Amino acid sequence: MTQTTTNQAAPARAEWTGQIGFILSAIGSAVGLGNIWRFPGVAYENGGGAFLIPYLVALLTAGIPILFLDYAIGHRFRGSAPLALRRIAGKFGEGIGWFQVMICVFIAIYYTAVLAWAGSYFVFSFDLKWGKDAAGFFTGDYLQMPTDGSLFSLAFVPSVLIPLVLMWIVTLVVLGAGVVKGVQRLNVIAIPLLVVGFLILVVRALFLPGAAEGLNALFTPDFAALANPSVWVAAYSQIFFSLSVAFGIMLTYSSYRRRKSNLTTPGLVVAFGNSSFEILAGVGVFATLGFFAHQQGVAVGELQNLSGPMLAFVTFPAIAAEMPGGQLFGALFFGALTLAGLTSLISIMEVILAGIMDKFGLSRKKAVYGIGGVLAVVSVVLFGTSTGLIALDTIDNFANNIGIVGSAVAMTITVLWIRRSGRELSGHLSALSTFRVGRTWRFFVSLLGPIVLGYMLLVTVFGPDGLIAKPYGNYAPEYVAIFGWGVVAAMILGSVLLTSSRWRYDPDRFTPWPEVPGQRSTLRLTGVEAEPAVAATNEGGAR
Ligand code: ALA
Repeated sequence: MTQTTTNQAAPARAEWTGQIGFILSAIGSAVGLGNIWRFPGVAYENGGGAFLIPYLVALLTAGIPILFLDYAIGHRFRGSAPLALRRIAGKFGEGIGWFQVMICVFIAIYYTAVLAWAGSYFVFSFDLKWGKDAAGFFTGDYLQMPTDGSLFSLAFVPSVLIPLVLMWIVTLVVLGAGVVKGVQRLNVIAIPLLVVGFLILVVRALFLPGAAEGLNALFTPDFAALANPSVWVAAYSQIFFSLSVAFGIMLTYSSYRRRKSNLTTPGLVVAFGNSSFEILAGVGVFATLGFFAHQQGVAVGELQNLSGPMLAFVTFPAIAAEMPGGQLFGALFFGALTLAGLTSLISIMEVILAGIMDKFGLSRKKAVYGIGGVLAVVSVVLFGTSTGLIALDTIDNFANNIGIVGSAVAMTITVLWIRRSGRELSGHLSALSTFRVGRTWRFFVSLLGPIVLGYMLLVTVFGPDGLIAKPYGNYAPEYVAIFGWGVVAAMILGSVLLTSSRWRYDPDRFTPWPEVPGQRSTLRLTGVEAEPAVAATNEGGAR
C-alpha cells in the first residue's frame, strides 16, 4: 500500500450537473486563444489552404483519438491527471500526470498575460485608443518594450500589470466557486455569448471590400509545404493545444462526469465544434486582412505582422482604425478573445488545482487561493514587465511543441504499449457511449499516435531546422536556454518532485467502474444519465 498521511477515504468528487454543462465547459476549454489568435497565423505560415490537409489529418488521427483517450482515462479512473494516470500506470504514470500539470503551469502564466492585453484592448476599442500607429502603441505606449534590445527586465508596466492582476482575480474567484457554481456556470453563460458575438464579427468581415482576396490568401493551397515536416508538426501541435488534449484538461474535465455518462458523442461535438470555430476564426481574420490589403492597394501577402501576438494586437487594431464602425468591430474581436481565453484559462488552472487537491487533500479554497495565488505572482513578475512579449513567445513554443507533443508520446506509450490498457479503455468508452470505438481507435492511439508524434518530436528538436541547430526565434542562445530549455527542465523536475511527495489519501484504494468494461448489457444505458449510488459531492470541500 502507498504511504499516505491518513487512512480516510477521499471525499467524493465534484460533478457537472449534466451533459450540457459538460459539453459547454469542454467547448469553453477548447475554444480559446488557440482558435482566434493562433490558428489563422499558423495556417497562413504553413501552406495556407494546403494546411487544412495536415490539420484535418491531425484532427482525425490524433486529436479525436487522444481526446477519447483523455476522456476514458479521466472518467474510468476518476481523478486529476496525476491520480488517474497513477491508477492506470503506477508511479511512472503519475509522473506523466504531473508533467501535464507542469505544462499547464507554464501555459497559465503566459496565457493570462495575453488575456490581460485582450481585456485592455477591449476597453481601448471604444475610442480606438491606439490611434494611427497601432504597432508603436502596442510595443511602445502599451507594453513599453525596451528599445535597447534587452531581453529581460523587471521594470513593471502599470498598463499591463493592472489588467493582469484583475484577470487573475476573476479567474481565481470563478475557480474558487467550484466546478458547478463557478466553472460550469461561467461556461453556460459565456459560450453562447461568444458564439453569437463571433458570428456577428465574421459576417461583418465577409461584407468588407476585399474580403474575397483575404480568403484566397488563406485558402489558396501551397502543396509544396506538405513535404515539409515542420508543417505537420505545426498541424499536430495546433490540434493538441486547440482541442486541449494531452495536457490534462479533458482528462480532468471527464473525471467530473457522472459514472454512467455518454463520453464519445459529446467528444465528437466538442472536437468538431472546436474545429468549426477555428476555421470560422480563420475566415473572419483573413476576410478582415483582405479588406486591409485592399485599402492599402497591396496583396495580402505583402502585409506585415500576420501571425502571433502582432496579428491580434497590431494588425487588427490598425484595421479597426480604418473601418467604419471600427469601435464595435474592435470591441467584438477583443471581447471574443477575452471571453474565449478566460474559459480556457479556467480549464488550464483546473488541471493544476485538481492535481494538488487530489494529492495533498487541500480544500478547493486553499488550493485556489494558495497555489493559484503563487502562480499569479509569478505571472505578474514575468509578464507585467516590459519584456513579457519575448518570454511569452519562447515559453509558448517550448510548452507546445515539446511539452504537449512529448506528453502525448509518453502517455500513449505508457498506457497503451507498457500497460496494454487499450482494450480496457475502448471497452469503457463503448460500454458507456452511444458512439462505440474499437480496433480503429486503438490503432490510432497506440500505433499511429506514438510513432508519428515521436518522429515529429525528434524533427522539432534534432531536425535541420530544429531547436538544437537554430536557437528559437533567433534570440540569444543563453536566453533560449533559460526560457525555452529551462522551462522544459523545470517541467521535468517539478514532476519528479511532486511524484515523490506523499499522498494524503491512498490513491490505489479504488475500483474502476464498470469492473469488466465492455459489458454494455449490465449497464442498462438509456442515453439518459443516471448515477449509481455515490456519496454526496462536497463542491467546496476537499475535491
Ligand atoms: N484550447 C485552448 C486554446 O485553444 C487552450 O487556447
